[in-house]
Amino acid sequence: MISDAFWVNQDGRLTVGGCDTLALAREYGTPLYVMDESQIRVNCRNFLNAAYNGYDGESLPIFAGKSFLCKEMCRVIASEGFGLDVVSGGELYTAAAADFPREKIFFHGNNKSDAELTLALEENIGRIVVDNLPELRRLSSLAMSKNKTADILFRLKPGVDAHTHDFISTGQIDSKFGFAIETGEAFEAARTAAELPYINLCGIHCHIGSQIFEPEPYATATKVMLEFMLRVKKELGISFSDLNMGGGFGIKYKKSDTPPPFAAFLEAISETTRDFCDTHTLSLPRLLIEPGRSIAAPAGLTLYTVGSVKEIPGKRTYVIIDGGMADNPRYALYGAPYTVMAAQKANHPATQTVTLAGKCCESGDLIQEHTLLQAVAPGDLIAVLATGAYNYSMSSNYNRLPRPPVVMVENGKSRVIVRGETFEDIIRNDI
Ligand code: LLP
Repeated sequence: MISDAFWVNQDGRLTVGGCDTLALAREYGTPLYVMDESQIRVNCRNFLNAAYNGYDGESLPIFAGKSFLCKEMCRVIASEGFGLDVVSGGELYTAAAADFPREKIFFHGNNKSDAELTLALEENIGRIVVDNLPELRRLSSLAMSKNKTADILFRLKPGVDAHTHDFISTGQIDSKFGFAIETGEAFEAARTAAELPYINLCGIHCHIGSQIFEPEPYATATKVMLEFMLRVKKELGISFSDLNMGGGFGIKYKKSDTPPPFAAFLEAISETTRDFCDTHTLSLPRLLIEPGRSIAAPAGLTLYTVGSVKEIPGKRTYVIIDGGMADNPRYALYGAPYTVMAAQKANHPATQTVTLAGKCCESGDLIQEHTLLQAVAPGDLIAVLATGAYNYSMSSNYNRLPRPPVVMVENGKSRVIVRGETFEDIIRNDI
């Protein structure tokens, strides 16, 4: 299987967290998001161990909440000792509602509103990651009005090509995120920050992209970031405590995917940091990384029920399910690959090539095309694997479809952690 979270039991049925998927579907209905708590914790610990073993300085892995956030996820992540990356007032509000340790919250985003910045200041979060000069100035005056110093990082563009999908590649100069290093923009911004009151520039951050399979771009980006750090120290006399290298560590969606172990990414970052700091007698910064997908995706799957199977002679076979792009827009957006299986027949050979289509009123509402699947009929259960990241968090009410519930499973037990929406929820804000 593509993740240790998923097993086939002796009856040939797919199980997750010790729970039979058929029993889950019967109890909670479909579509259903299922997350395996043990797998989330295992994924967290892999990062923690890799970070602690491979680096002499301080380090803190931070979970990227955009990949999957709800109050229970905040609790699980906090109990593993992780920090949290939030990217909106809504995510920050969720974290605060779950009582996430504020000093471990990092607030990203390329256009934070005054209200969001004010909330961040009031909540005394660990770091605000400043994206641009207008934001820096607004933050300085908001902090002044509250008589609080804002501890900030700068979001920088290291100019590194991360070899991933264009839409999720962010480290290059033509990106809407952050200050460019190579044009001198970032350095000038650091000079400005040093002069602004109520601003404490503690370090720098970059995120070079997502679903990256090679450690090498991380090493390159780390070096560029450290060179910037050194220049700021030499020319402005500012020593940064934090180096935040973002997330983006690739995972297995298909059997053919071969991402390196997480530790390889961390090694690239920490070795580069150690060597550079040794050479230039810089003190080791606190090293931060921000995995999202690699924590949440392999821990989750989505269950659907087949409504119909349409064979179009000479064209293709559509297997049509009771969810679709409203609960998983990733194929429609990125052509994202997924492993798909008939959950009750997981040990049958996958003999037919099908298109898994959703129920939205839109031809592009597909979950996967040209994918191998066991022979299925209406009423059969379909599992789409590794949907724990960027599915629930990117879901919508398109066609006024209520969002499915999220169920957490562990050791054969299940509990709802996000209730499914009702039609009442759908019209709640209608006047
Ligand atoms: N840190 C920052 C600043 C980010 O922007 C992101 C993701 C992460 C960390 C976490 O990256 P991860 O480890 O999850 O790859 N919706 C797209 C992914 C967009 C990622 C955006 N930023 C998808 O479904 O593939």
